[in-house]
Amino acid sequence: MSIRSKIVATGFHVPENVVTNHDLEQRMDTSDEWIRQRSGIGERRHIVAGEDPAELAEQASRRALESAGLEIGDVDAIVLATLSAQHEFPGTSFFLHERLGAPEIPCFDLRAQCSGFLYSLSVADGFIRSGQMRRVLVVGCEVHSTGIDISTEGRDVAVLFGDGAGAVVVEANEDPDDRAGILGIRMHAEGRHAKRLWIEAPSSAAWPVRITTEMLEQKRHFPQMEGRYVFKHAVTRMPEVLRETLDASGIKLDDVDLFLFHQANLRINEYVASQLEIPAEKCLNNIERYGNCSAASIPILLDEAVRQGQLASGQLAALATFGSGFSWSSALLRW
Ligand code: ACO
Repeated sequence: MSIRSKIVATGFHVPENVVTNHDLEQRMDTSDEWIRQRSGIGERRHIVAGEDPAELAEQASRRALESAGLEIGDVDAIVLATLSAQHEFPGTSFFLHERLGAPEIPCFDLRAQCSGFLYSLSVADGFIRSGQMRRVLVVGCEVHSTGIDISTEGRDVAVLFGDGAGAVVVEANEDPDDRAGILGIRMHAEGRHAKRLWIEAPSSAAWPVRITTEMLEQKRHFPQMEGRYVFKHAVTRMPEVLRETLDASGIKLDDVDLFLFHQANLRINEYVASQLEIPAEKCLNNIERYGNCSAASIPILLDEAVRQGQLASGQLAALATFGSGFSWSSALLRW
């Protein structure tokens, strides 16, 4: 029989430092009311001196491994999704590898921004279904706080993002009586929109050096986003890819027990749910507490759902993302 992969454990970790909308009011011209009304965000987490992405990823990974009753030596590879790598190279996954005391297993970073976790899950699923690997640790990890412009000039982006990490252990499931598994993943991209939401510098295309004082003065190392443009594409692409994934598995929207959407903006998720006539109680959101953690948002949300008992064995969960690139994706899981 063919091998199916299944998520056997989840975990997440966020920094302790809570930054509320009121805290941001002290640093820029914004208001709790504006942020809540436009995005649904009340607070987010920011690292403090001494913390780094690999540490967040380590804590999330250890939590996932612990709940699976596994050790890092039981894992065949680490795939880490991030848009905020700890260093230019090597990838954050290598620093995580060291922190976890991993044996000589391969690890790599995958860059697909807010869709990065589902892209990575698909890579792990492929490794497992091909028989190449039995168990893969998949991590989404972001530290946005050190890369955003926390001033009035950068307020359109700065209020949205938070730091955090989430991890899952994906394993081969060859038990014919166990229906749990990743039933399908669909991914898409449209690179012609790359500069609608991006960070320009440092850039290896900037000659002769990747970043200059002038670039820093012009704040070209901070994210730039055409918010409304991104919003419009997100609310079109997420329902589209969700339907595509469900259709491919012959599952109806009504059959899905839980919807976990990327946490970029509560308004986006409410709009998508209303378009698809999904009842609000089937949609989980935690953006109010963590903001947009990009590649980490979905695994954090998934771990919360699992630990709060919102996903029972045999239930169906549909996941969908949209992010910079543009990139969008969806996955269907039977728990
Ligand atoms: N506080 C107060 N006022 C603000 C803030 C702020 N933080 N930010 C912007 N404003 C002002 C603007 O200057 C503008 O003022 P003006 O009318 O005087 O010019 C006004 O508020 C409205 O600004 P808009 O940008 O038009 O606000 P909009 O209603 O579009 O909401 C938002 C902005 C929340 C960013 C929305 O467009 C959005 O969510 N976009 C999608 C974000 C997203 O999905 N990102 C993708 C994932 S992220 C990733 O992949 C990395």
